[in-house]
Amino acid sequence: MINTNRRPVAFFDSGVGGLTVFEKAKKLLPNENYLYFGDTKNMPYGEKSEEQLVEFADRIFRFFEEKNAKAVVMACNTTSAITYDKLKNKYNFKIYPIIQNVCSTIAKMENIKSICVIATPATVNSHAYKNEIEKYNRNINVFELAAPNWVRIVEEHRINQPQSIMQVQEVLEAAQSFSPDKIILACTHYPYLMDVLKKFVQEDKFIDPSVYFAENIKNDFVKSGLVNDKFEYEKFYVSSNPENFKTASEFFYKSDTLPELIEL
Ligand code: DGL
Repeated sequence: MINTNRRPVAFFDSGVGGLTVFEKAKKLLPNENYLYFGDTKNMPYGEKSEEQLVEFADRIFRFFEEKNAKAVVMACNTTSAITYDKLKNKYNFKIYPIIQNVCSTIAKMENIKSICVIATPATVNSHAYKNEIEKYNRNINVFELAAPNWVRIVEEHRINQPQSIMQVQEVLEAAQSFSPDKIILACTHYPYLMDVLKKFVQEDKFIDPSVYFAENIKNDFVKSGLVNDKFEYEKFYVSSNPENFKTASEFFYKSDTLPELIEL
């Protein structure tokens, strides 16, 4: 009998950001087979229109469908905010969108009266975090702030350059002006900046949603009977510049092989 749980779990993002989710999920679900697609040709997603983002995500979903994925993890806040509602009923696999998945967990955290969400321009303009958190808790004040350059800083490995540090500091000062109890790193690329972020704000003030996302995915896999019992492969794909992806990814997930370049 064919074991359908052997089918891969597929992750995607505009680049290396989704690896912050991937590496945590892999620790919790070590026996899964994995696919990861970094849409580096179309990065940064946060500056794209709704129409473009839906087209990118739809193409990636079709690719995963061909690969017989059992579940797709939208390890990208921007696509979760903009495309999930449009695509959620179009495919047969289970889809996990980061924002819709983690906000109920965040909204139930104790002693939080105000939160600042730092995200890409597209995520901020969608108000997806504010709307989702308010669904579960109307007593939290949610402020939203765009950090347009942060994704490029990570993808172009400029994390420790003086200009990057200044750009991080500027956004954090704006965030601190709201005096929030917590700051959500609402783009999967941002945890790569933690060494710089914690120069300006105490580390425990940041919420990295990927921690809760990976746990929720694991719990749902167990509940839904999707857990595999034997790891066989993991495979990485990018839509441009495999070398760059490998260098940028080292910080979160070291892989010996170059990702495969594919045109979708
Ligand atoms: N890492 C993605 C996110 O979580 C996309 C960043 C981008 O390409 O702008 O929003």
